[in-house]
Amino acid sequence: MINFDYYSPTRFIFGKDTETRVGALAKKAGARKVFLVYGGHSAEKSGLLTRVRSSLHEASIAISEFGGILPNPKSGPVYKGIEQCKKEKIDFILAVGGGSVIDTAKSIAAGALDDGDFWDFHERTRMPEKALPIGIVLTIPAAGSEGSGNSVITQEETLLKRAATGECLRPRFSILNPELTYTLPQYQTACGVADMMSHIFERYFTNEKGVDLTDRMCEAVLKSIIDAALVVKDTPNNYEARATLMWAGTVAHVNLLGLGRIEDWGAHALEHELSALYDVAHGAGLAIVYPAWMHYQLNHDPARFAQLATRVFGSLTNKLNIQDTALEGIQALSDFWIQLGLPSKLRELPSFRKEDISVMTKKIKMTRPNELGNFSPLRYEDVEKVYNEMI
Ligand code: NZQ
Ligand code: ZN
Repeated sequence: MINFDYYSPTRFIFGKDTETRVGALAKKAGARKVFLVYGGHSAEKSGLLTRVRSSLHEASIAISEFGGILPNPKSGPVYKGIEQCKKEKIDFILAVGGGSVIDTAKSIAAGALDDGDFWDFHERTRMPEKALPIGIVLTIPAAGSEGSGNSVITQEETLLKRAATGECLRPRFSILNPELTYTLPQYQTACGVADMMSHIFERYFTNEKGVDLTDRMCEAVLKSIIDAALVVKDTPNNYEARATLMWAGTVAHVNLLGLGRIEDWGAHALEHELSALYDVAHGAGLAIVYPAWMHYQLNHDPARFAQLATRVFGSLTNKLNIQDTALEGIQALSDFWIQLGLPSKLRELPSFRKEDISVMTKKIKMTRPNELGNFSPLRYEDVEKVYNEMI
């Protein structure tokens, strides 16, 4: 286990009706004028936004609204939001939605206190050091942005999708009411499941020794996600299963599971090129990327893949041949995601063209001078091969 310094300052408020506390929580955090960021229609249609507005009014907090954020969020709205926040002297940002809304809110929060171009933070030529305080009402368990210090935005002109990271981007509070997720279509729930599982895989595939504690924590969370996802598929309004998914999404990415380990993150980089180019949901892209990435990495440490297969997917066959057991686990993962309704191959994306593989590989090479990932780092010829495995 390697040394670590764990800091996770977000206050998580979990459970039924908790969104009604948003006004009091924002006030306690010093809010007088809130920039309310939200997505397309879901939060308005469900009545959530009405409840949030009235809680803010009750706390005598003024509101400036900024709705219409789309999935795979783009740089344009971030620039607009920054301008509006500066002009209106906003002192608090409240995101009501999923990863796309939250990440837009985070980049606006950092840009609002900065005189330069916010994109520098995503290009990593500068790090965000300060940001307006951020609060969250989460509506989809998936990206884990409600507890992370990251924001992932796509630059409109270049279609580069890149993450900014900084402690100042961590939310002051995140409200998690599982009932708010009843309205999620099965496909969106499934995308969230693939994303949170992938956040665990990014940490699970490590070369560190002596990490049995975090290995087993990863495996436990993965098993709980799988069980809950199957319940939700049949009974979308099952509170306990929705609650399990909601907290698992946070636990998967608040970095408890990565402590003492060197994480990988190569598969996420491969996926961000897919969602930037095809506008596919991030979780659906990961369902295509991960099985191919796993096949490519299998020979690096078959025992680790076999451990995943036996402990999480209950693979029993051929215990003497770890390679076969490992393969069985990858197949079980792929079958599970397909069962949830997710794609498994690039050819299932309507606008996929084979020639895009070299475009995506070049984009990765352009902004990441070194190899990709840490488990068994991918050189650029490997990146192209892994993409080809996804066809
Ligand atoms: O816009 P509305 O109408 O709200 O619809 C949204 C959107 O279409 C819908 N939705 C959300 N909550 C709903 C709902 N529909 C019905 N009922 C509800 N309760 O779901 C759709 C997807 O929303 P989005 O915010 O895009 O989902 P997600 O949370 O999966 O976020 C994905 C984004 O997060 C980034 C991804 O790359 C992607 O851009 N990530 C952010 C990370 C971070 N900041 O730490 C880490 C992740 O690895 C990831 O990269
Ligand atoms: Zn992710």
